[in-house]
Amino acid sequence: MAGVAESRARNADFWDRAAPGWIRHAERQDALGRPLGAAAIDRLRVGPGERVLDVGCGCGGTTAELAAAVGPTGVAVGVDLSEAMVAAARLRFPGPRFVTGDIETMGVVPGAPFDAAFSRMTMMLLADPVAGLTTIARSLHPGGRLAATVFRDAGAVPWLSAAVLGAAPHVGHLPPLPLGDEPGPFAFADPARITRVLTAAGFGDVLVEPEDVTLDTPDTPEAVAEWLIEVGPAGAAYRAAEAGARASARSGAARLLAPFRIPGAGYRLPTGLWLVTAELD
Ligand SMILES: C[S@@+](CC[C@H](N)C(=O)[O-])C[C@H]1O[C@@H](n2cnc3c(N)ncnc32)[C@H](O)[C@@H]1O
Repeated sequence: MAGVAESRARNADFWDRAAPGWIRHAERQDALGRPLGAAAIDRLRVGPGERVLDVGCGCGGTTAELAAAVGPTGVAVGVDLSEAMVAAARLRFPGPRFVTGDIETMGVVPGAPFDAAFSRMTMMLLADPVAGLTTIARSLHPGGRLAATVFRDAGAVPWLSAAVLGAAPHVGHLPPLPLGDEPGPFAFADPARITRVLTAAGFGDVLVEPEDVTLDTPDTPEAVAEWLIEVGPAGAAYRAAEAGARASARSGAARLLAPFRIPGAGYRLPTGLWLVTAELD
């Protein structure tokens, strides 16, 4: 198993290479990926005038949604490891403030203290999640709220493996698959681990609830395959491959994604999440 330093280096390298795919699909990710964070946004009950933090904000769509909820008297800050995604977020959304940095090592997030923190699909990717959650805790007021979503287990998100397995034989070297608790899409599958991490970071009232959502997309098999490959673990290898290999990767992924296709209507992608809520003691 990789240690924290090695996992951190892998994480930085992975997001550096993944950024172009996420930027390319930012509009689709905002529109179709909304169910991935909607329950956490609802649960956070962010109101006008509040200060809110979005951890792992990517290209900024959820930060902009939170900025709309806090209104002109509030503050929304998005933080992300990827300089390229933060630059894209700033171009897409001039309202919120976006900060580049590693949540695990930044001490406190600029703009702190916040009333609430939100995070969509990021906590399980941290090399040292206690360190990352401790930064979030340090950046909140006493009594501050946290609401986040993470994937459950691989079986609850069948399209993710389908896209990777369909593409992998046609493209080059993929990053190593995570072992055990190493950071990755399913590193927070065990709700007891989530509770342990949040408690160690100083949060109380930790609640981990299953949330089943569906990502509905009217897009063609080609478009859906490309989206899911590019925002997944095979994204960088796919972009580096030559055109013929990329076409084969899209066909391979589309074949394995066929069970989720509704002819004439697009795709329904079942997705099992944990909705995680907590408060600072
Ligand atoms: C799966 S993406 C989710 C992006 C966005 N929240 C969404 O749902 O569309 C994970 C994001 O977390 C960021 N990230 C990963 N590790 C991080 C860290 N240690 N500190 C800050 N951001 C991190 C990545 O750069 C990436 O943008």
